[in-house]
Amino acid sequence: MSSWILLLACALPVAAQLAPSDLRVEYLRDPLGVDVAHPRFSWVPVDSERGAKQSAYQIVVSTGGATVWDTGKVASDENAQIEYGGEALQSDKSYEWRVRWWDQNDRSSAYREAHFDTGLFSAADWKARWIRGANQMRKDFSLESKPVRARAFVAGVGYYELRINGRKVGDHVLDSPYTVYRRRILYSTYDVTGMLDAGPNAVAAMLGEGWFGARAAIVQIEVEMPDGRRATIATDATWKSAPGPIVADSIYNGEAYDARKETPGWDRAGFDDSKWSAVSLDDPPAGVLSSQMMPPIRVTGEIMPVKMTSPRPGMWVFDFGQNFSGWVRLKVRGEAGEKVKIRHAETLYDDGTINVENLRGARATDTYILKGGDAEIYEPRFTYHGFRYAELTGFPGTPQQDTLIARVVHSDVEPAGGFSASKTILNQIQHNIVWGIASNLESIPTDCNQRDERMGWMADAHLYSEAAMLNFDMAAFYTNFLRNIRDSQDDDGSVPDTVPRARYARGPADPAWGSAYPLITLYMYQRYGDRRVIEENFDGIRRWTDFLTSRAKNGTLDFSKYGDWVPIEPTPGPLVSTFYYYVSADVTARAAEILGKSQPAQAYRELADEIKSAFEQRFFNPEAKTYGNGSQTSNLLALTMGVVPKGTPTLGRLTDSINYQHNTHLSTGIVGTRYLFPLLTRTGNSALAYDLAVQTTYPSWGYMIERGATTLWELWQEKTGDSMNSHNHPMFGSIGAWFYEALAGIDFDESAPGYRKIQIRPQVVGDLRWASGTLKTIRGPVSSSWSRDGDTLRMEVTIPVSSTAEVWVPKGHLDEIQVTESGKNVWKDGRAAEGVKAREEDGQIVFEIGSGRYVFERSGS
Ligand code: BGC
Repeated sequence: MSSWILLLACALPVAAQLAPSDLRVEYLRDPLGVDVAHPRFSWVPVDSERGAKQSAYQIVVSTGGATVWDTGKVASDENAQIEYGGEALQSDKSYEWRVRWWDQNDRSSAYREAHFDTGLFSAADWKARWIRGANQMRKDFSLESKPVRARAFVAGVGYYELRINGRKVGDHVLDSPYTVYRRRILYSTYDVTGMLDAGPNAVAAMLGEGWFGARAAIVQIEVEMPDGRRATIATDATWKSAPGPIVADSIYNGEAYDARKETPGWDRAGFDDSKWSAVSLDDPPAGVLSSQMMPPIRVTGEIMPVKMTSPRPGMWVFDFGQNFSGWVRLKVRGEAGEKVKIRHAETLYDDGTINVENLRGARATDTYILKGGDAEIYEPRFTYHGFRYAELTGFPGTPQQDTLIARVVHSDVEPAGGFSASKTILNQIQHNIVWGIASNLESIPTDCNQRDERMGWMADAHLYSEAAMLNFDMAAFYTNFLRNIRDSQDDDGSVPDTVPRARYARGPADPAWGSAYPLITLYMYQRYGDRRVIEENFDGIRRWTDFLTSRAKNGTLDFSKYGDWVPIEPTPGPLVSTFYYYVSADVTARAAEILGKSQPAQAYRELADEIKSAFEQRFFNPEAKTYGNGSQTSNLLALTMGVVPKGTPTLGRLTDSINYQHNTHLSTGIVGTRYLFPLLTRTGNSALAYDLAVQTTYPSWGYMIERGATTLWELWQEKTGDSMNSHNHPMFGSIGAWFYEALAGIDFDESAPGYRKIQIRPQVVGDLRWASGTLKTIRGPVSSSWSRDGDTLRMEVTIPVSSTAEVWVPKGHLDEIQVTESGKNVWKDGRAAEGVKAREEDGQIVFEIGSGRYVFERSGS
């Protein structure tokens, strides 16, 4: 008896401690509509013990009680992206999957279970037809019994809102996503089991123009009855359509809603639609239907106004205190026919009225016409705005401060990281970066959120993608964006400047823009260890590099459109283009190496080397010892490429330019800025990088913030007129990666991607007293924070199960240091303590650790 109690007593804590958490299929939790044949499973092994390693795992996949895949116990420390290898998955089916793992002592965790649903795998699974009509469509149908399972598969070009029995289906907004429609349209999958009843039912849809500029939809509801029989409700010629209250909708211009034109009951069974017209069967858009395997756009939050003013009679201006993407929800009571207008803006004039000059052609105006009676609540469906201020006119009576409430709208990517430090300005920049990035994830990474643009400009996209990956879980989002790039690639291998291609983005991309293709592919591999994106895009990035070769002369490129965009000091376009030509060849070579393709690996490595020497020959100025025109960007791109021969004082020229010619300011555009900070850190100039980061005079991030910026501006200059000057352009947010990687010191290790190996190497610089970073990686949570007091430096580090890390403890100005870890001596008298793996390198003591939480403390000795 007593031994049984003993056993139970130790068994419980072990099971509770060893667990898999955060179960995902293709980066998503419990996803619906998985439409890949071999989905990948990931989990995070949890064990607070130090040096914990997964030694084996077991995955079991089943459907309807039958096992379709059982891996058995597989000896492996891999916990991410394990490919499904069982019986072929079937369309529109629900699967359960379970996983457990064993630690280094062969103790097994309990199983944890999650679910996924498959989508419609092939064109033949789609019985529904594309239909087109006015912006409301409906259909009554009847079911013999209440279903046990029902899934709705829906796509719209442009936007749709699906409704069943009077209620909106799901919580997506601005669906379907923006894709290269002639190649691919994304459908969403909803579990609608609970929305359907025995007897009469109705399905309805509201349609908006979206990016496609038309109103067409395809809906297929697959229903399973308790007795196993199935029914399909699908869009076809029997659906009816009629115009509804949305009298106009446009992403840029806003929505006009006339509540008097509502058709009450239209989305419920039994509505009299005899006067409605038949829909027309639309030619199917040429693109294939693929599942939306990324977080949809949602309303992710609300903001109450911080201030309401009335700069003119009958005009009220609401200040939400933050630039963001979305719209406002209006509460109003008045007479039928009264017309309320809401205009949106990023800035105000001195007299308190809104300044919409920088929206250029976007009217950004929502109009609501009252139906009269009780309080009415309205929010638009098929538009979004980038704004901080909303102007209200035509309002009956006097509004309250909560008459308008802001709704924040963007791709609902999960927050993945956090950065903070003892310097207020850094925290404010971090805030602006996070809001700037989030409000520009609108199913594609956009350049801005307010004016008549909001396109997937490719340089902007790759320049802020690393900062995005450190602040949000971007894996599914960028997997989709890379597919969009693939879908946009031309036969000659070129890709457009914007993806999808905007009407005005003609011809092949500027090399600095098109290199988003190889670069985002590489970043996905480095940060998520995702080999499949390399497999899927290798051919595409190689064709992109070959396209550049076709435009090159003697190893350099003259072809340039934008170069180092919006700089203080210009840089020759051919220099920037040749740099990205090198980057493209280099990434192609690396991708080939990763895939084990030795022939192309060697060929593209040789090409990269040739570009390097051609760059050196063409752009080096032997008298000045600088590159190109000697601009900061010219020199720093040369240094980043590694072309600068040892002993050449180019780095000194760069730091002189920053320190003296520009009085501790950068002069770089979006390209140079991205590479400047890592370069300065790599070359031992973190203190200077820090001075630039915390600078508050022009040009700097602090300059924007001191002038009230709550997101990042497009320009270093303060402008508000009728010109190109968005106040929410995340491209200068590239510095956000440096916050995590250099200041908090959480860096990946190229040799073991996906944070299997981690470099913890914080830069203890300037007047910074402490810095802290956290990051949810695919292998589990990583954190690094440090603080200092006199000569004492305290570093706290967390490393996930199965990962290893090198922790770099700086000696600072001290000759000899002593280091303890959790109070025990680990380094003293220039030597590691027994059993501790450590070495001295670059004036730092480097400790090798496994998983767990560690507290290092350095002091002088
Ligand atoms: C966009 C940019 C983009 C650029 C191309 C601008 O209008 O807003 O961010 O990269 O055009 O030069």
